[in-house]
Amino acid sequence: MGLKHQHLSLGNGWLLQSMLIFSMLCFLPSHCLATETVFEGPYDNETATQREQRMSWWREARFGLFIHWGIYAVPAGIHQGQAIENIGEWIMHYGKIPVVEYKKYAADFNPTQYDPEAWVLMAKDAGMKYIVITAKHHDGFAMFDTEVSDWNIVEATPYGKDILKPLAAAARKHGIKLGFYYSQAQDWVHPGGSTWEGRWDPAQEGDMDRYLQQIAVPQIKELFTNYGEISVLWWDTPIDMTPERARLFDGVVDLQPGIIMNNRLIYGPHGVYGFRGDFRTPEQHIPATGLDYDWEACQTMNTTWGYKSYDDQWKSSERLIRNLVDIASKGGNYLLNVGPMANGNIPPESLGRLKDVGAWMRVNSSSIYGTTASPFVRLPWGRATKKEYPNATELFLHIFDWPDDGRLTVDGLRNEVTGAYFLADYQRNVPITESANGWVISLPDEPLDPVNTVLVLKIKGPLDVARLLPTQTSEGVLTLGLADVAIHNPSYGGELTLGGDSDDNMVLTEWTDSRSHVEWLFDVKVPGQFDVYADILVKTATNFVLTIAGESSLVTVEPTDHETFESRLISRVVLPVGESDLSLRPSDTLWSPVQLRSIKLKPVEM
Ligand code: GLC
Repeated sequence: MGLKHQHLSLGNGWLLQSMLIFSMLCFLPSHCLATETVFEGPYDNETATQREQRMSWWREARFGLFIHWGIYAVPAGIHQGQAIENIGEWIMHYGKIPVVEYKKYAADFNPTQYDPEAWVLMAKDAGMKYIVITAKHHDGFAMFDTEVSDWNIVEATPYGKDILKPLAAAARKHGIKLGFYYSQAQDWVHPGGSTWEGRWDPAQEGDMDRYLQQIAVPQIKELFTNYGEISVLWWDTPIDMTPERARLFDGVVDLQPGIIMNNRLIYGPHGVYGFRGDFRTPEQHIPATGLDYDWEACQTMNTTWGYKSYDDQWKSSERLIRNLVDIASKGGNYLLNVGPMANGNIPPESLGRLKDVGAWMRVNSSSIYGTTASPFVRLPWGRATKKEYPNATELFLHIFDWPDDGRLTVDGLRNEVTGAYFLADYQRNVPITESANGWVISLPDEPLDPVNTVLVLKIKGPLDVARLLPTQTSEGVLTLGLADVAIHNPSYGGELTLGGDSDDNMVLTEWTDSRSHVEWLFDVKVPGQFDVYADILVKTATNFVLTIAGESSLVTVEPTDHETFESRLISRVVLPVGESDLSLRPSDTLWSPVQLRSIKLKPVEM
């Protein structure tokens, strides 16, 4: 799509609105990932084969390290004795710290413990194949030597050395790809840089075009010239970027031919990104199913990207390993973050978790690298990844929940299975039998790895897997039970979970976080009009947004009697034949936690 006739009004009101819409939409993975192209990229004319070649190392890699490191590691979440809420690298914004005052923190940035080779080896030992580090974040501080501003690590800190140079050398030495994160639009220190929700210091006033021409563009050129091969460029928060402004970066890619770029160069209409880039960037959440585009989920280990001394909401190693697998099973990459301290040490909690992930990867990495998305809609006990060859397939079954009866069912798999073995023990005999619906595998009593045991199925020929979705009874009724639900939780905060005392008595509970939502895929064989019922327990009236087959509506559910479950009519819809989906998410207008057992679609009698 051409740019010339795009009319985008990007005043501050629009921005605030679009940021709000954007943050709301971010809980709708499909929207968060959507891209309406308003800006052509440098690779828009490449052929499929060229793209395949350019993206191949990245697709093969599946796992990378994000590093958020900068001056914000000095205050580490506390300014003038006050804990500043929100993510650590945004302290200048959330603390409304004047430029002069913020700059003083640079005097205490002296990372004498910084050991770039140790960082690279840490990533490599964890099984990561690439590193993306903040060359400049929103505070405008260059972690590298730059000619265009003295707000940089060489001139403004006692450390006095470029930290990217030795990192690039160490990465090259150990075969790890290196990428740079660069905040091209937001810059809270250089006059003219954009800000979210307005400026708070007159020193920030200035012309954005000039800022881009004099700081951002030359710095990208420096980053692309002085550090050898750079494999990824990670743009971010394109507030106030217009197609004309994005054009200022035209041609820089020529300095790093083949570089892979994310989609955050410019917003398009409706607050979604307006640049396709090479991959999409779901942040802090994992999309529900496989997408037809390259994507990378970035995530923190606690709740902040930049170091905060008092953030101790760490995810478990089990969670991180399963997230990596979940993402790979949906065809994405995992960019897992560490926020080093101002002295150059990485928090021990992060080091420990990376070690655990590495231990799992040493045994199981062949089920991650170079794999593609699972062919199954849902596996009740875990996830799957696969590698396809011309006349065979390796199917990796990631067993999170070890079945009590020792029988692992793989329903829907119609191929001939020619062998099965565990990655943790190639020798062990694994009996497999064909069943009416697929295959059944007899497992040992105990998992080989309680976090995730990987079983490989060797399969003849190209995969043939049935999409097994909930469907209608002979009366045309469709029940969406909790065995088939996809639960989406934000990466931190409340966790909507499956409770109940048995498999037949499951309940969705602890829905305290309005960002959590649930989704079902189903198959309609007999189309028509349906009443939608929720089997629900509601203590105080609540609102939901119900989306069925792409249509959303606001639903109010009144309290149910005596703290019991009731079947409540919540909507009436028309459904065509074929696959559809239904999601239920709290509305931000009125929300009180509910418990849910199922959704039923009953045909309306004519
Ligand atoms: C954001 C934040 C930021 C962080 C990034 C990582 O949009 O502004 O601080 O660097 O996401 O994805």
